[in-house]
Amino acid sequence: MDPRSTRRLLTGLLVVLLAGCTLARSGQDSRSAGPSTTSAPATSAPPGTAAGAPTPAGLREAVTVEGIRAHLVALQAAADRHDGNRAAGSPGYDASVDYVVSQLRAAGYTPEVQRFQASQFRERNRPVLELADRGGTDLELDGDHRTFEFSGSGDVTAPVQPVDLRLPPGQAPDSSTSGCEPPDFTGFPRGAVALLQRGTCPFRAKVDNAQRAGAAAAVIFNEGQAGRTEVPAGTLGGPGITLPVLAVSFQIGQRLAAAGTDQRLRVRTDTESTGRPTSNVLVELPGADPDRVIMAGGHLDSVAAGPGINDNASGSATLLEIARQLAGTRPTHTIRFAWWGAEELGLLGSRHYVAGLDDAERERIALYLNLDMVGSPNFRRLVYDGDAQGAPAGSEVVERVLTSQLRGEGLAVGETAPGNGSDHAPFAAAGIPVGGLFTGADETKSTEDQTAFGGTGGPADPCYHDRCDDLDNLDLEVLDQMADAAATAIATFARDTDPVDRAG
Ligand code: BES
Ligand code: ZN
Repeated sequence: MDPRSTRRLLTGLLVVLLAGCTLARSGQDSRSAGPSTTSAPATSAPPGTAAGAPTPAGLREAVTVEGIRAHLVALQAAADRHDGNRAAGSPGYDASVDYVVSQLRAAGYTPEVQRFQASQFRERNRPVLELADRGGTDLELDGDHRTFEFSGSGDVTAPVQPVDLRLPPGQAPDSSTSGCEPPDFTGFPRGAVALLQRGTCPFRAKVDNAQRAGAAAAVIFNEGQAGRTEVPAGTLGGPGITLPVLAVSFQIGQRLAAAGTDQRLRVRTDTESTGRPTSNVLVELPGADPDRVIMAGGHLDSVAAGPGINDNASGSATLLEIARQLAGTRPTHTIRFAWWGAEELGLLGSRHYVAGLDDAERERIALYLNLDMVGSPNFRRLVYDGDAQGAPAGSEVVERVLTSQLRGEGLAVGETAPGNGSDHAPFAAAGIPVGGLFTGADETKSTEDQTAFGGTGGPADPCYHDRCDDLDNLDLEVLDQMADAAATAIATFARDTDPVDRAG
């Protein structure tokens, strides 16, 4: 029997065994284990307490792996019905959103579907910036330029037209307002290359104005103060610009400005920008204290290559079951769950969400817990390192709660530097304490990891970002353990965020 078939058989046996346990326990359980679209569990007693804040033990008891697996089956079916994947912007993703929303509604919640544009940019060829008539001064343009993200495509040779430049530059950054106001382009010769200086308004505002004024291309140079001399790495924020737009250093900008309008410049870019509508799902369980919110989330989208069951239906289904089991409880602090869209396209959903928070809303969020890949078949059992570089103060408290729960069950636990590869990153960048669980992706397991966690020396998830990341690509036992750790952290912080707040 090949290893996958063996695993499938073992997984099947585990499900049967666990189902047996549930039946034996069902007399004590206050709520049903499996999801239901017809009855709302909000009417039964909340886990671990008659009325009020859920307890960690009560929530752990209520959240079962069979409950989680039912959601995984539904998400696999969403992929199976729609080209085998659940990628952002695809029908398989929308079906996943529909499932999560219907489950939440059935549990008595009022979920919010937050729509946004998932924009992507690709550069097909390197950009070109050169003087068309090299007769006079040699401006040494080669190599000192870069394409703006979401630049349009084109190959333009035209005279340069400076636009309201501030030369020499002002003392402080944002002294230049070059191109920020439509009147800056009064008398602009249509078809020229707009020469713009960084400063005051977004790059996109300058380029929108240039495009409206009939520019054939735009070149934006850095503003010129200390720290603002190199070629800027900028973005135009999203699709919609048809002009080629290049960034150059302050030095090149200055030389182009001095060269005069009879210099013709060649500007060439070869790019592709796309924008497709997609969404996040958010739901809130109001707490008695409106000032502190604990958030838990994971990405609901898959890569286009496959159904994304370990990555990340595993986290999505776990969160959904925890939310379902919490319905009807009254925690001390508000609990907000998020299922993110377009993570696989660059954390777009979580970035969109965090970027949309005002200061007061951001400060209300005590912590963010991320679940991404929590059922890897050849697992490691990892908790995000709260002391890692870039982890805001307070993150170590989240790590401690997750680790204690797992160690308390006699399980081996390791740490992982969370990095910027999943949806905790925008929260950490905004100064919000973060934590998370991870059971491994395509990295090869070391001998130490094999000793600690068992399994083989291959990758933790041999089907990572592949079409075989299906219902068989899971270890349900580790998934159950991770669900217990997540439930513990959510119930613990829903009762008391002080330890995180004091550290932060
Ligand atoms: N689930 C993966 C990998 C992962 C898991 C990263 C847990 C960090 C923590 C994730 O969906 C992914 O593929 N991330 C990308 C980067 C992302 C910005 C597109 C990666 O790690 O290559
Ligand atoms: Zn992922």
